[in-house]
Amino acid sequence: MFRFSIALVHRQLTASSLALARTPPIAAIPRRTFQRLFSSSMINFHGHIHKPKPGEELHITFVTKDGKAFTYEVAEGDTIMDIAQAHGLDMEGACGGSCACSTCHVIIDPEYYDAIPEPDDDENDMLDLAFGLTETSRLGCQVKMSKELDGIRVALPSMTRNLQKSDFS
Ligand code: FES
Repeated sequence: MFRFSIALVHRQLTASSLALARTPPIAAIPRRTFQRLFSSSMINFHGHIHKPKPGEELHITFVTKDGKAFTYEVAEGDTIMDIAQAHGLDMEGACGGSCACSTCHVIIDPEYYDAIPEPDDDENDMLDLAFGLTETSRLGCQVKMSKELDGIRVALPSMTRNLQKSDFS
């Protein structure tokens, strides 16, 4: 067994050495080759949302830190965080919606809170870290728009745990 492993490793090393020996020096590789080494797939922007189908528009109103209300027509399935970011509202979403921060913390209008599916353990753990937690707090990246939430009102908290310089000015 041991001898077999040594032989296998030796064969692999020899093969990789040969492959390296066959690789041309970097200076000899045409410049266009390097350009193709990097991925050219689309960047996954934050705040990507779908256009609602005619007649299936849902409505959401955000109340910002300074008390201004903004209402948008949105599609079913988009998250509150994506909607906020797509419209340039002040929602950081530092972890990109992977439930690993609390910077997408929102306060849901109590009238709609029970219409949202219960938060799972991961969301509850992150909510515990949210600044200014309330009885109707949720993470915006974990709440998807549905017909039951049509007309929902969501307040953006005055601060999030990921403090920025602008929070102090
Ligand atoms: S964006 Fe990080 S938990 Fe929602």
